[in-house]
Amino acid sequence: MKMISHLRKLLGDFDGSRRTADDIRGVWTPDTLKQILAEDMPGTEVMVVSNREPYIHTLVDGAMTVQNPASGLVTALEPVTRACGGTWIAHGSGDADWQMVDEQDRIAVPPDHPEYTLRRIRLCDEELNGYYYGFANEGLWPLCHIAYMRPMFRSDDWQHYVAVNRKFADAVAEEARQPEPLVLVQDYHFALLPQFIRERIPGATVVTFWHIPWPNAEAFGICPWREEILSGLLGSSIIGFHTQSHCNNFFDTVDRFLECRIDRDPSTIAVNGDISLVRPYPISIEWPPKPLERQAPVAQCRAAVLGRLGLPETIRLGVGVERFDYTKGILDRFRAVAALLEHYPDWRGRFVFVQVAAPSRSKLPGYQQLQADAATLVEDINQRFGGPDYQPIVLLARHHEPDQVFELFRAADVCVVSSLHDGMNLVAKEFVAARDDERGVLILSAFAGASRELHEALIVNPYDTDAMAEGLALALTMPPAQQQARMRLMRDRVRDRNVYRWAGHMLLDAAHMRKRLRIVDVLPVPEAPGSRIPNLAA
Ligand code: G6P
Repeated sequence: MKMISHLRKLLGDFDGSRRTADDIRGVWTPDTLKQILAEDMPGTEVMVVSNREPYIHTLVDGAMTVQNPASGLVTALEPVTRACGGTWIAHGSGDADWQMVDEQDRIAVPPDHPEYTLRRIRLCDEELNGYYYGFANEGLWPLCHIAYMRPMFRSDDWQHYVAVNRKFADAVAEEARQPEPLVLVQDYHFALLPQFIRERIPGATVVTFWHIPWPNAEAFGICPWREEILSGLLGSSIIGFHTQSHCNNFFDTVDRFLECRIDRDPSTIAVNGDISLVRPYPISIEWPPKPLERQAPVAQCRAAVLGRLGLPETIRLGVGVERFDYTKGILDRFRAVAALLEHYPDWRGRFVFVQVAAPSRSKLPGYQQLQADAATLVEDINQRFGGPDYQPIVLLARHHEPDQVFELFRAADVCVVSSLHDGMNLVAKEFVAARDDERGVLILSAFAGASRELHEALIVNPYDTDAMAEGLALALTMPPAQQQARMRLMRDRVRDRNVYRWAGHMLLDAAHMRKRLRIVDVLPVPEAPGSRIPNLAA
């Protein structure tokens, strides 16, 4: 007993003296991350695991081309991995990917200036259909977003999900050069991976980030493999979500379905003596964003975009940029544009909304249906309010590279992010980052995590068409001084809470957990069988 209270005091003092993200002043940069790694985790090998790879090689008209995928995960993780170095393990999804790798399926990236290694994993059609299209995107994606698309759970898909998670765990074990690597596991494709990694590399520190929302316990409870998913995730040392409410939902879900000890104050869950820290880490973008370096002044961007679309200089421009996904509220914003033109006929002929929608997961019926519905709705609205020289909505259903997206952001008067539910939504932050002229208005869904940080946006309920139309009318008439005041505050927040801070915050917590475990390991305290952490509640 005496020894345990001594240990509790020691750990308490140790916790109290920890360095946190708030102790680091100034704007976070890649060097801040490098410094944290060097000082708090010297010599530690860093590995990232995600389904989507950061660079996709494809052949376009016979020429080798590198594509940057439309993925918030990649937007955030790529600059972080460039700063940390190490290995990123991901599915090789490009038709020319295998022409570019070495015998170990590795390639140094970024292609023009290598800073880390990309290890590509081969998945056959069966694996991809079951693990990615099936369980991840027809099961977990709608389950977690609650955007009124029924989740589909098939045991075949689940078997593939388990097998592919094991395959990635094997790859982590193959790539690891140290007994105690830091493994950053990304997203809902890999709920089982943390536990599988722990079985193969017991000394690994696994930090898992869940990029999408976590629903309440009742909603999550319909998943036939809920216990397996929760246990898999709890193989992590740290589990991160974007918001506190997603953490709370996770606590409640674990509490309902697993035998565990939950401690809300240090924010931990202990199962069989293994402990996981569960915390919000709101994700962000690099600052300053790379594509901004290559942009022309705002007036030129505007002239270029309007010229390309064949629109007169006087037109006021709204934009939306996303993957063609039913969670993004694309149809809802089109309906809001129609309501604007209905309620405020003055805007007819003077306002155009440009929607970039990159086709995504198009094999799935839900996504095909959305693409068809969007095309029909645009046609209806354009017929109703347009004419031979005026089409109120322009739908560009193709992938755009980051430079093109930034140009569009800079050309716009308004950007609409109307997600029905979204973990964070980095498009909102990219729009703000693109506007170094401090102009433009952001209309942002209350159901995107970004609305918890970008308070100066016009926050809307995307299910309320008339209110969104009012938001558009307000945005289009907002005086420049007010645009500037709002934009300035949002820009300051995105700069201060950039992606290096997001990653740094997790790295500091991970370093702290590692040190804490080492203290526990050297002290001769009785532990529960199989436990790495003494039962401090005893
Ligand atoms: C979301 C997910 C990411 C995913 C991205 C693009 O942001 O959280 O994990 O990469 O969508 O989707 P895709 O299926 O094309 O990778």
